[in-house]
Amino acid sequence: MPMAEAAASAAGATIAVADAIAAAQRAFAAAGLPTPRLDAELLIAHARGCARAELAWRRREPLAAETRTAIAALVERRLRREPVARILGSRDFWAHRFALSPAVLDPRPETETLVEAALAHMTDAGRSYRILDLGTGSGALLVSLLAERPRATGVGIDIEAAAVAIAAANAAAAGVAPRARFVVGDWGAALAARFDVVVCNPPYVAQPDLDRLAPEVGYDPRRALDGGCDGLDGYRQLAPATPALLARGAAAFVELGFGQRDAVAALFAAAGARVVAVHADLAGIDRCLVVGAETPRKAKKRIGFGAPPV
Ligand SMILES: C[S@@+](CC[C@H](N)C(=O)[O-])C[C@H]1O[C@@H](n2cnc3c(N)ncnc32)[C@H](O)[C@@H]1O
Repeated sequence: MPMAEAAASAAGATIAVADAIAAAQRAFAAAGLPTPRLDAELLIAHARGCARAELAWRRREPLAAETRTAIAALVERRLRREPVARILGSRDFWAHRFALSPAVLDPRPETETLVEAALAHMTDAGRSYRILDLGTGSGALLVSLLAERPRATGVGIDIEAAAVAIAAANAAAAGVAPRARFVVGDWGAALAARFDVVVCNPPYVAQPDLDRLAPEVGYDPRRALDGGCDGLDGYRQLAPATPALLARGAAAFVELGFGQRDAVAALFAAAGARVVAVHADLAGIDRCLVVGAETPRKAKKRIGFGAPPV
């Protein structure tokens, strides 16, 4: 029996929370989804209107007919490879929950590497750091940094007006809206100001790879992914603009796609920026390039990163 029917099952049959979880898990496993149990629990908790942790003591609760119908619809969406976060409408990133819309990238856990690296640079929690987030999307990077540094202020820029609206809503939800400004723009082109920290996760997927990505990635906006023929177009635009955005002692934290470290470092070096460090993500992949605008000797003192320049 297809899962949608099994989960909703025939009217009249008693279906408990645990039955629905088991049926969804089986359907997801049969479809080859990588985390069938987790997906099943998240979707059923969502339909049931409770936290996932609560499922443990609600296992025997019978599901109302409308909840079973709702579960069936959610399961069908997941079987069409819509990501769970898109179905739920939000993604947990760093310390906050970020609302999603079709206009924004579903923030990835590896992007937390940039948050970690930028926070290690912002060592004085009481300082009024000025932060710039280029290609802010859901606002995940800027909102996370502002929440961790209560005196910091920041600007988030995105070329998509609909993304900027979501980022502003996420900033409000996290309580950092008074310190955040969101602007529609083409990278930093309209900015005359300099910043203490620049973060950027540009689109970096090479066009030939776009159609080979997991079906779930098809739910992300193409503009958030498409890095041109070789994946480097975004960096080519950003590298020459970055030094002029950096204040004294500042650093830019730029996300890297797999295998892009040397090419991206070369683009920033050619633009007069100084490559300070590279940070790997939890999978050991070089994920965050750190660049400064100063001479190596001065910047080394101020930035204090352990990793050697690349
Ligand atoms: C990979 S997503 C990153 C989103 C978010 N910062 C994150 O890490 O989850 C890239 C973002 O850059 C934006 N973008 C693409 N081209 C841009 C441009 N020329 N100027 C400003 N933003 C741009 C996209 O709309 C998208 O939101």
